Amino acid sequence: MEYTKLNNGVIMPKIGYGLLDVDDPNTCEQAVQMALKAGYRLLDTAVAYGNEEAVGQAIQKSQLDRESLFITTKVWVQDAGYEATKQAIQKSLDKLKLTYLDLVLIHFPFGDYYGSWRAMEELYEAGKIRAIGVSNFYAARLVDLYLNAKIKPMINQLEMNPLYQQNDALKVMKDLNIQGEAWRPLSRGRHNIFGNQVLVDIAEKYQKTVPQVMLRWNVQRGVVALPKSLNAQRMAQNIDIWDFSLSQKDMDNIEMLDSKETDSPSLTSAETAKQLNEWKIHD
Ligand SMILES: NC(=O)c1ccc[n+]([C@@H]2O[C@H](COP(=O)([O-])OP(=O)(O)OC[C@H]3O[C@@H](n4cnc5c(N)ncnc54)[C@H](OP(=O)(O)O)[C@@H]3O)[C@@H](O)[C@H]2O)c1
Repeated sequence: MEYTKLNNGVIMPKIGYGLLDVDDPNTCEQAVQMALKAGYRLLDTAVAYGNEEAVGQAIQKSQLDRESLFITTKVWVQDAGYEATKQAIQKSLDKLKLTYLDLVLIHFPFGDYYGSWRAMEELYEAGKIRAIGVSNFYAARLVDLYLNAKIKPMINQLEMNPLYQQNDALKVMKDLNIQGEAWRPLSRGRHNIFGNQVLVDIAEKYQKTVPQVMLRWNVQRGVVALPKSLNAQRMAQNIDIWDFSLSQKDMDNIEMLDSKETDSPSLTSAETAKQLNEWKIHD
């Protein structure tokens, strides 16, 4: 595993294990156990994924040193605001059976997320969270928070893959020294990406798979990537990306695959703001 250093000096793995849609507790516990066995140390969960308890069980059973792990969770929109976020993070700690979190992100820039940020700043200063950041903050929201926050965000987690590269957003993050972290780094295999001829040719050249090339590309442009797989072989494959390096020409060819479009709902649409504000995940 290779590591990167955040703007506050904290070290984090460049590849993490994504836990979206791993709902069944037994499946989740087994998946995390397999991931840890395969060598993952960064686990990316969220209150909204509903699996923090199962993740906590797997962590306990692994008997790995707590310091070797990098555990991320995210504050949901319903828990936006100072008090609600403090309570939500304590609940996450309880469910994960941890005394501190490595990274807490604001899941979406909706609701009173400035109140959330103040709560996270306090918990950061109290040593309950080692790094704080955001997710799905498009440039205007990110810069606004950056300019108004006492403690600057360390991470912004965005959808980033060869079909949706977000180069402008990434430039903004790099200028502010905010680490980019890629969700859906494999595009979930959509649009026949694993059969894309440019990627297939590059993969064959290095005797790697297309998913490995996709992950290596993100890591090489300075982005942490969070692939998800429930399959032990694919899990192992997705972190076996340290023995090759893409040439500048490969990077340029991959850059040309950017469609600048995503299947995900637009973060700037009225409909998304309404839906995410109405999406209640607990009483
Ligand atoms: N912050 C946010 O709003 C947000 C939003 C979405 C996702 N995320 C995070 O990002 C993580 C990853 O995103 P994602 O789960 O949507 O998608 P993804 O990682 O891009 O793709 C996962 C899919 O690809 C398949 N796959 C994985 N490795 C493969 C390989 N080597 N070869 C072929 N197929 C492979 C998996 O199937 P198998 O299981 O069968 O291998 C799964 O169906 C999430 O789990 C979550 O932690 C965050």
